[in-house]
Amino acid sequence: MRFVVTAGPTREAIDPVRFISNRSSGKMGYAIAEAALARGHEVTLISGPASLAPPPHAKFISVTSADELHHAVHRAVRTCDVLVMCAAVSDYRPAAAATRKTKKRQSPFALKLIRTRDILASLPKENRRYLVVGFAAETHDLKSNAQKKLRKKNCDMIVANDVSRSDSGMESDANEVVIFFRNGETEKISRASKKIIARELVKKISKCLKKV
Ligand code: CTP
Repeated sequence: MRFVVTAGPTREAIDPVRFISNRSSGKMGYAIAEAALARGHEVTLISGPASLAPPPHAKFISVTSADELHHAVHRAVRTCDVLVMCAAVSDYRPAAAATRKTKKRQSPFALKLIRTRDILASLPKENRRYLVVGFAAETHDLKSNAQKKLRKKNCDMIVANDVSRSDSGMESDANEVVIFFRNGETEKISRASKKIIARELVKKISKCLKKV
């Protein structure tokens, strides 16, 4: 099967030396790419800036901004069987990136932010020939927020993780996830290393792929 996995944060430029980003390390997405390769799948890994070595044997596409990720995903899904959208995409970007370094001033400085496009929500809703696996990063109301995202973003499954804990989720080597399926079923993968969680996720995704 052909996997497209997105990973890491995006960076939205403020000026040539500054950007807005988030704490995503890319570890979960890279682990999923590795686990899919280990099971003999073909993998395209689309990654935002992360300080990790891309897995050998994956097709690697490096992106910086949410907009670049949007284009890369739309191109890659043309020939894939599953999209795993693990990247922590910035929801906002500066309305305009300055071309020269912004100099400091005495007065307070406000930055105008505008929404980036929602990549998952922009995918075709019907007659898709690939499975869509979204992620949900939540600090509260994990179940209801994840289920809302599953519906709104038209995913086949959504992997929710609690990012309020310091011992799992963002930046950590460990994670604990709950998977919500479109038919209402849920499955939990208890706290384990991201590598183990990734293996379990790829197993579950492969099972879903066999059904479609
Ligand atoms: N996502 C996306 N495009 C965006 C933002 C997020 O495709 N512009 C994807 C992420 O890759 C993830 C899912 O949507 O698979 C949920 O991302 P998350 O950050 O949990 O939620 P948001 O949609 O950003 O909503 P909120 O910040 O309000 O929780």
